[in-house]
Amino acid sequence: MLIKKPIVVVTVGFLMLMAGNIEATGRVEKGADLTFDCIECHGMDGKGNFETPSIAGLDEAYILKQLRAFNSGKKESMDDMMHTYTEDRTDQDLQDLAAYWASREK
Ligand code: HEC
Repeated sequence: MLIKKPIVVVTVGFLMLMAGNIEATGRVEKGADLTFDCIECHGMDGKGNFETPSIAGLDEAYILKQLRAFNSGKKESMDDMMHTYTEDRTDQDLQDLAAYWASREK
């Protein structure tokens, strides 16, 4: 039993990864784990401040489009801030982040 357990965990993890890739949709819970950086500038509630726009409750597809554009460098942001915070993320991360922020109250 002790030996088998890690195998089960790895298998389940792998299946979840596969499912995520096939569906290619944002997962709110996963996005919540990634918001650590965002709240620094956009605020705990994502409502922004005098320098940053509110991102809470925006359309998921819109957020994703913006994040992908910042990630690729297609869209510029003030002091390159958004590029810096999206460049090392996978597309799945961006989808999860978009799902999370879209789920927040406007
Ligand atoms: C260092 C500060 C900073 C951090 C950290 C940051 N942002 Fe931003 N974000 C900005 C600024 C400034 C803008 C405005 C961009 C511009 O210049 O047009 C912006 C714009 C955006 C936009 C576009 C909003 C719109 O209405 O088009 C989205 C979406 C966004 N940020 C999401 C995020 C997410 C998700 C994270 C976390 C991964 C994050 N940001 C982290 C500063 C930051």
